Amino acid sequence: MIKHKKEKMIVTCALPYANGPIHLGHILEHVQADIWVKYNRMLGNEVWFICADDSHGTPIMLKANEIGIKPKILINNILIDHKKDFSSFNIAYDNYHSTHSFDNLLLLKNIYFKLKNLNLIKEKKVLQFFDNEKKMFLPDRLIKGICPICRAIDQYGDACESCGSIYNALELIKPRSVLTNHTPILCNSTHLFFDLPFFSKFLKNWVFSGVLQDSVSNKISEWFKSGLKQWNISRDAPYFGFKIPNYPGKFFYVWLDATIGYMSTFKNLCNKNKNLDFDEFWCKNSESKLYHFIGKDIIYFHGLFWPAILEAINFRKPTKIFVHGYLNINNIKLSKSKGSFIKARDFTKYLDSDCLRYYYATKSSSNINDINIDLYDLMYGFNSDIVNKLVNLASRSVSFINKYFNNYLSEKLENPNLYIFFINNIKYIKTCFSDRNFKLVTKKVMVLTDIANKYFNDLKPWSLIHKNNENYLHNICSMTVNLFKVLITFLAPIMPNLANKSSKMLNSKLTFNNLHVPLLSHRISKFKFLCKRIDYNSINLILKK
Ligand code: 2FM
Ligand code: ZN
Repeated sequence: MIKHKKEKMIVTCALPYANGPIHLGHILEHVQADIWVKYNRMLGNEVWFICADDSHGTPIMLKANEIGIKPKILINNILIDHKKDFSSFNIAYDNYHSTHSFDNLLLLKNIYFKLKNLNLIKEKKVLQFFDNEKKMFLPDRLIKGICPICRAIDQYGDACESCGSIYNALELIKPRSVLTNHTPILCNSTHLFFDLPFFSKFLKNWVFSGVLQDSVSNKISEWFKSGLKQWNISRDAPYFGFKIPNYPGKFFYVWLDATIGYMSTFKNLCNKNKNLDFDEFWCKNSESKLYHFIGKDIIYFHGLFWPAILEAINFRKPTKIFVHGYLNINNIKLSKSKGSFIKARDFTKYLDSDCLRYYYATKSSSNINDINIDLYDLMYGFNSDIVNKLVNLASRSVSFINKYFNNYLSEKLENPNLYIFFINNIKYIKTCFSDRNFKLVTKKVMVLTDIANKYFNDLKPWSLIHKNNENYLHNICSMTVNLFKVLITFLAPIMPNLANKSSKMLNSKLTFNNLHVPLLSHRISKFKFLCKRIDYNSINLILKK
């Protein structure tokens, strides 16, 4: 057997803004990443799964003003909630930090001075929209207007959600301030720009070097056609962020310190874990891997700015950036800005987080198409696949073992060939997990679950109870328990709650490595309730109907 070379890797999700609760849109990305992390950990890889709150920027400042508290208090409270929400979905971060941290400030300053010394920061006077009523410069997300490219209405000042074009806010047609609805005036202000065009050649190679999905590289190549622009990394006061040294009234743009947050969160982890070496993971020729999970709305930042900054400061670049599509609920786009979302907390209040993890897995593949979810569809799928088929298989076979065989599995399998047929799927399942094609994992597991149920039903073990056929009955039920073990091992990265309960019930660790050896003459525990059927009422409560 070829021995798998253990990999060292950092895995990240996009850092959620600390201006609101975690919703089902965030959970999609974090669950996708967590499934992949759990799978890699099952393979024995050394995985450092990190994330942080993105704690700066105008929306956070405005939100704090609105509530009447200091931004620092707001972000501290939100950080606590975000951590709780992610752990309620079993998203197992090794470190969940904040970009408003000393670690991040230190790295940011360090990187900024490096860039400055390399002459990669340029000063320029720019015309900018100013809200005369609020007495503040308007960031892109606080200006709306008509897209200059496709004429879609109600588009933000940085990019069009309808046609995907990136533009300057000044190009918007009929601009208005989101804060006051008034037409903003134009004012001059000096800003600092990172020389992104300097990295055009490097980026053109990097983008097509296999780090991105093809559709993502193609999207970026459209931006190359229109030419890369200098990137404004400064913002005027009032702003909640880090001050730019020697530029009174100027702050670093949230997106600069956000990406640096990936590094500083890891640095913070190294401070807590002395066996971890920051440079080993971030130096230019690092042999470890760096994987980012992000949504397609932030490709520009991760596919251009971030690698350019890393190249500039002579650090390693991401190994892969995994981009996913938007989440639509009942075909309505779940928008961070429009507030049309379901909070993570409202889900776990009524249902086990495994239900959503499973449902998301059935929808997840490696492409960047949008994902549509419907919570009633989730209910039907979960009840039919997991409750009626998978858990029912365990409940029937384990109960026989408990009741008639003193909790011991038999010495041999009733149908070794069928068992071999099951474990021959390991390779396929591993490939699907590696490729983030989780929907193929769930499909295959369900096909196999149907086969296992058919096996059990066809042999009618219940009819053997009083027929002096104890050995046969014992072998059939033990065989079925072993088939269940294979199935739940395949699902373990997706459904950690169900996997943990099953592992306890089977008195056995769930790993790919031990599947070749079936559980024989092995003591299992009493069947315990594994998971609940979802009812309409719970779904209606989540949807607040
Ligand atoms: O789009 C967002 O929600 C950003 N807060 C993501 C930041 S990711 C990284 F760069 F920090
Ligand atoms: Zn447009």
